[in-house]
Amino acid sequence: MSKLWGGRFTKETNKIVEKETASIGFDYKLAEQDIEGSLAHVYMLESQGILTKHEAAQIEQGLFTVQKKLRDGQLSFSYEHEDIHMNIEKHLIDEIGAVGGKLHTGRSRNDQVATDMHLYLLNKTEQIMTKLADVQQAIYDLSGEHTDTILPGYTHLQRAQPISFAHHMLAYFWMFERDYGRLNDSLKRISWSPLGAGALAGTTFPIDREDTARRLGFETVYPNSMDAVSDRDFIVEFMSAASLIMTHISRLSEEFVIWMSEEFSFIELDDSFCTGSSIMPQKKNPDVPELLRARTGRVNGNLVGLLTVLKGLPLAYNKDMQEDKEGMFDTVHTVETALDMLAPMIASMTVNRETMQRAVHTDYSNATDIADYLVNKGLPFREAHEVIGKIVLYGLNENKYLLDLTLEEFQAFHTSFEDDIFAVLEPRSVMNARTSEGGTSETAVKEQLKQAGRTLEKK
Ligand code: ARG
Repeated sequence: MSKLWGGRFTKETNKIVEKETASIGFDYKLAEQDIEGSLAHVYMLESQGILTKHEAAQIEQGLFTVQKKLRDGQLSFSYEHEDIHMNIEKHLIDEIGAVGGKLHTGRSRNDQVATDMHLYLLNKTEQIMTKLADVQQAIYDLSGEHTDTILPGYTHLQRAQPISFAHHMLAYFWMFERDYGRLNDSLKRISWSPLGAGALAGTTFPIDREDTARRLGFETVYPNSMDAVSDRDFIVEFMSAASLIMTHISRLSEEFVIWMSEEFSFIELDDSFCTGSSIMPQKKNPDVPELLRARTGRVNGNLVGLLTVLKGLPLAYNKDMQEDKEGMFDTVHTVETALDMLAPMIASMTVNRETMQRAVHTDYSNATDIADYLVNKGLPFREAHEVIGKIVLYGLNENKYLLDLTLEEFQAFHTSFEDDIFAVLEPRSVMNARTSEGGTSETAVKEQLKQAGRTLEKK
């Protein structure tokens, strides 16, 4: 089959080379963007007088026909035509004849592919932002029901201080808020148009880059044609943001896995998000959070893969850059599906209030508050810490929690203890005493929830 670039060649391409250098196996995903980019280009060629009205009209019609076939699933792609750009151009020429060959005037596949990638990622970034907001909404809704649900808070995975379940979940709300912000920031850089940069040096035709940029919804154009065709920073940026999204998802997933273990039993994920065991009939496995945790690996891998492709690449376009695609598509798919599963999984999970509540009565997580109690009675914090450490040790030896001790037992360690100590000891008072801004008391968490609500309203 004759190649669109076959003129200077005397031999057929080696078969394995043809297959391996082709990108159509994956860049067919850019078909819509490729046609969109071509339409903007042809409108501009006409308004600049580079193509006649008639030629442009033929090409537009041809592109619409190709677009319709694509949407009807009737467009076939072949390795012989290497990539999506040449496959579409070939279809166009098949539809309207030789005039279709005028579409590529003043353009190169190098600015064309960069344009397609920008358009694709612009769209995907916006979609992923919406999906992030859906997850935030699910967290917000669940938190609203649980400002007064108390559970142990951990550091080092050791019981630390009792906290509100809403407080714990809202921590993830803010992580996803930063992810949202990162994607939002990246939009202004994705919105640079490379179209019109040509192969690397610009073009001899009197094109109007601002015009195509505007038609495609870009904010501005790359000021340097060499940078325009060889920049893949916007993909790296997207992949970095995606890595952080997956990192956050993996941390939350890990909490779900732990919380769903029989040892904790703090939550139960809905049956529709779990699977069973082929041998152990009693099992209900949290496969979804496990997979989400693991898929962080491929997203991180894709990021490092692209950074490695770009490292040391000379200007301008190099075939190496074709390797930017599969990782990007995979990252987009992984993040999209992760968020799609996460929102309904959160919305449908059962929170075992009673178990969590019981847990905070069987630990020493009120110890800090007894130290603070002595500080309020005038002791330096270090001294108070020492006294309470001794009381905890005593409790451990006697098999008693701090809640079980009598006033006499407390007073044996320090004479400042009085009857009011018992109100301080209650896990709920411990939680609600943390009224500082961003703290875990019910009042502070309700304030935080309001702030989260305002954030969602702005989206
Ligand atoms: N398929 C190529 C890619 O994905 C398109 C650009 C090819 N340009 C070229 N001069 N070979 O990067």
